[in-house]
Amino acid sequence: MKEQPTMGGKSPRTLCIDIGGTGLKSMVVSVHGKALSERSLVEIPRPATPRAIGAALQKVIPGRAVFDRVSVGFPGVVVDGIVRTAHNLHPSWAGFDLATWLLRTTGRPTRVLNDAGVQGHGVVQGRGVELCVTLGTGFGFSLFVNGHYVPNVELGHHPFRKGKSYEDLLGEAALKKRGRKRWNRALGHAITQLQETFNFRVLYLGGGNARHVAIPLPRNVKTVDNVAGMLGGVKLWERD
Ligand code: BGC
Repeated sequence: MKEQPTMGGKSPRTLCIDIGGTGLKSMVVSVHGKALSERSLVEIPRPATPRAIGAALQKVIPGRAVFDRVSVGFPGVVVDGIVRTAHNLHPSWAGFDLATWLLRTTGRPTRVLNDAGVQGHGVVQGRGVELCVTLGTGFGFSLFVNGHYVPNVELGHHPFRKGKSYEDLLGEAALKKRGRKRWNRALGHAITQLQETFNFRVLYLGGGNARHVAIPLPRNVKTVDNVAGMLGGVKLWERD
């Protein structure tokens, strides 16, 4: 990773890490959301055990002189920095204290949250009910009420249609198997169902597959740049 010489600056620099189903990304970001390094990307090793991901993480962690704190978006349920589930990685993640592991590895304070939660932090406006759905390997979901995050709502695994979950019909595997047209049709149904269930003010659609969205979206549904997943990492530190 090529870093800019930012040492000596007063504002804390955040190493933002996004652990996805297929790729592991990292970037150093200023408090104003300015990229202070290039984005590093490595493939997720399989089987995606904590040990294998740990080795991959070492490859994207720059020298500690260029960052002051670490934020991680993890694709599963995370409580107090400890992983509870990792549906698209490996069952052996359950109980793994990722925050402490990173603190020990980097020597820097670390916050770990569900990936869709981190992404949501990067895009919400802080008014009313806002939802963020990430369309990638899995179906990520986060709920914010007046800017407050309601953690770990795993909507992706809830029943959606015809005995299938949201992730069954809108995850990467469904996009590949059923094709873009049917995936988009299912997305339309999901948006309607989310509106009727949550009565959201705004729904943000992010994740790598948001680029395949080809249906007209209601005015309160917006696609967002994937970089938000990274920028949300800075916002995590504005929480208490
Ligand atoms: C996981 C979620 C995650 C989503 C996107 C789902 O399979 O259960 O926790 O946010 O994938 O990565």
